[in-house]
Amino acid sequence: MDTPLVYIVDDDYSLRRLLEFTLKSWGYTSQTYANGEQLLTALEDEPPQIVLMDHMMPGLSGLDTLKTVREKNPDLPVIMLSAQGKIDVAVELMRAGATDYFTKPVDLKRLQFALNNAMDLHRLKDKVRQLQDTLESTVRFDNIISSSGAMQNVLKLVDKSRNSDINVLIEGESGTGKELIARAIHFNGNRKDRPFVVINCAAIPRELLESELFGHERGSFTGAVDRKIGKFEAAHTGSIFLDEIGELDMTLQAKLLRVIQTKQFERIGGLETYSSDARIISATNRDLLAMAEERAFREDLYYRLCTFPIKLPPLRERPSEITLLAEHFLNQFAARENKPGLNMASETLALIQRYNWPGNVRELQSVIERAVLLADNDTIRPDDLPQALRFSGDRGGGGIPAEMFSTRDDVLPLEKVKEIAIRRALQLHDGNMTETARALAIGRTTLYDLIKKYDIRT
Ligand SMILES: Nc1ncnc2c1ncn2[C@@H]1O[C@H](COP(=O)(O)OP(=O)(O)OP(=O)(O)O)[C@@H](O)[C@H]1O
Ligand SMILES: [Mg+2]
Repeated sequence: MDTPLVYIVDDDYSLRRLLEFTLKSWGYTSQTYANGEQLLTALEDEPPQIVLMDHMMPGLSGLDTLKTVREKNPDLPVIMLSAQGKIDVAVELMRAGATDYFTKPVDLKRLQFALNNAMDLHRLKDKVRQLQDTLESTVRFDNIISSSGAMQNVLKLVDKSRNSDINVLIEGESGTGKELIARAIHFNGNRKDRPFVVINCAAIPRELLESELFGHERGSFTGAVDRKIGKFEAAHTGSIFLDEIGELDMTLQAKLLRVIQTKQFERIGGLETYSSDARIISATNRDLLAMAEERAFREDLYYRLCTFPIKLPPLRERPSEITLLAEHFLNQFAARENKPGLNMASETLALIQRYNWPGNVRELQSVIERAVLLADNDTIRPDDLPQALRFSGDRGGGGIPAEMFSTRDDVLPLEKVKEIAIRRALQLHDGNMTETARALAIGRTTLYDLIKKYDIRT
């Protein structure tokens, strides 16, 4: 909107002209109408930013016109002019929704002021409406930080899939929030009051996994002292979350494919066939398609599982969220540790933002959890962060870690320099021992000994 548009309504021709001329000199464009009916027709076409209207007009009165305008345009500023200075007229007009009220002859200075005010209000309301629109178009779920466009896309998919029975495959590096998203789908969907059953295929030994998934009858194998209900049975009418699905071996992949296709299974050692209407949500940090190409994962199963894929971006690809997540975890852990008012020094935040986060949100969460505990007074300082973060963070750039020169003393003890070098090399090579040892020009055994000596967690 360039020049604001004002509709002037008055039966007095010369006053219409005068107002039109004056408003022009104040930077407003105006259109004039001789009565209320004309105004109402014009409003149907194009509403202005402000209406300036006479109270006493032949035909539809200013008051009645105002009332009609209000029904359709509750937010449109309407400034009323009246020849009568009576207070009850003013009250009646304001009650009917007038934005302001002037007696004739109009004090032009005051009118200009009122118009400018009405414009400010109009712009403010526009802004609020715009903000509301953006708020409504952002998808939100409890406890999920999602300010980035990438995470917004993820949440839109969560929203689309939550009330469906479609099989969802959540892919993403470790710690990117796969389980959080799986839970959001289940607990916001139409199965939310039914069970959400989790099974981590990587955490359970192969021999036990089959019985965990499908259950077993008593005595079906050594150790099967009692009958056991499997996760598919437990998840009936709810959802089953198959975490780390890439770890499933070929035999179990075949069995899983059958459950997906027929919704039927047998307990180990049992003859009876059971059916499970569990909705399947699976997750992996591996590239299942590549595994399928290498025949390490059944292709037919892959396509069954990923009917609706959701890919979680790593944290380094959504830097704007790092700060928000850090604050989120800070509040959470400060409350738990009873350290209200704990805040973060700006140098600390700078280090957090610069770091590459190979362990993604989970790593950020545990870094903050530890820092909250370590923090003295009411501030988290760089010293409360793990060493890996205090390095300059220019991965691959080969720079010297900042802490090598920015300590209280000019010179660090040699042992400290060694420790820093090892931590740095480990970080650069993502914990790969062979590569780290090679980079440091030492043997692997020496590297192991030093890691132990400096108590470095890998
Ligand atoms: N966007 C987010 N907002 C708030 N918390 C998050 C977000 N993403 C992840 N988290 C938190 O980070 C932690 C790790 O998330 P989650 O366990 O879902 O990740 P994951 O991908 O399943 O990890 P892993 O690969 O280690 O199993 C959880 O405590 C989770 O609540
Ligand atoms: Mg997980």
